[in-house]
Amino acid sequence: MSRPEDLLEEARKEISQASSSESLESVRVKYLGRKGLLTGVLRDVGKLPPGDRPRAGAELNRVKIAIQALLDERKTGNDSGAAIPVPGGVDLTLPGRGRFFGQRHPLSQITAEIVSIFYSMGFGVVEGCEVEEEYYNFEALNTPDWHPSRDEHDSFYLAPGILLRTHTSPVQIRIMEKTKPPVRIVAPGRCFRRDAPDASHFTNFHQIEGLYVDRDVSFANLKGTLAEFARRVFGPEREIRFRPHYFPFTEPSAEMDVSCANCGGKGCRTCSGKGWLEILGCGMVHPNVFKYVDIDCEIYNGYAFGMGIERIAMLKYGVNDIRLFYENDIEFLSQF
Ligand code: PHE
Repeated sequence: MSRPEDLLEEARKEISQASSSESLESVRVKYLGRKGLLTGVLRDVGKLPPGDRPRAGAELNRVKIAIQALLDERKTGNDSGAAIPVPGGVDLTLPGRGRFFGQRHPLSQITAEIVSIFYSMGFGVVEGCEVEEEYYNFEALNTPDWHPSRDEHDSFYLAPGILLRTHTSPVQIRIMEKTKPPVRIVAPGRCFRRDAPDASHFTNFHQIEGLYVDRDVSFANLKGTLAEFARRVFGPEREIRFRPHYFPFTEPSAEMDVSCANCGGKGCRTCSGKGWLEILGCGMVHPNVFKYVDIDCEIYNGYAFGMGIERIAMLKYGVNDIRLFYENDIEFLSQF
């Protein structure tokens, strides 16, 4: 009968010389297999005098465990030799998998960028609530009962008088109720409308509201601030223009367009041949709005604006479908 420690030494040598997983496996079979050398010796323990059996058995078991450990070590590459790939198992010689680093959603990135531009111009940042009272969403914004935007079809009502806000303008009322002028804030947030989804509409979207109330605020201040904002978001080559418009809560009101980056203002499909793309609504705060919040419009005046964040992101990044921002497609999102 071979001595256990000789078997261990031989096995150690063969294991260290094995050059493939197949040869390692045949070493295992040679020593530990059903008909293997160690198994044979273990079986012979039964033939020893009863008094010698426990010690011999224990000794052989130690050797068996040691050989198994040597085999395992070689497989996992913990010794100095290279690890051997295990068929059907894990190849530990492969380089590690790259880690996936998350990043901010493009809409969050552009929101942060816009907010920081206004912050640098002296605007504070506030947030309103997504579930809003009709009073703040419409009434105090001088939007009478008969106005089409109050129609059920444009809004998600949760209960009588309670709805998901359709724009960020209610923040104007909430902030002016609490703060005496001067007020200079921007308010980013999510809005909801019952629009059928298409390339430029989605049931929820984001806006950034702006409000500046003080003595002697002029439309020229509004234009200058928004021109600077557009220059910093879109670059100096893009032009802007203001078109007269109607909003119940501003008077006079306007919409601001930026020249189309795609065609440089000549007119193309992106801008429906106009050469311009609308990005925000704005105007001078309506005196009726000041009445709701108890601000004396003989002393104070102000301007407000509201811009669509998706719109700006689409223009800046050349995205042609708003729904892409909401599909959680990592391939799309990781480009930003
Ligand atoms: N709230 C308006 C909208 O959603 C935009 C706006 C904001 C217009 C502030 C004027 C002043 O279309």
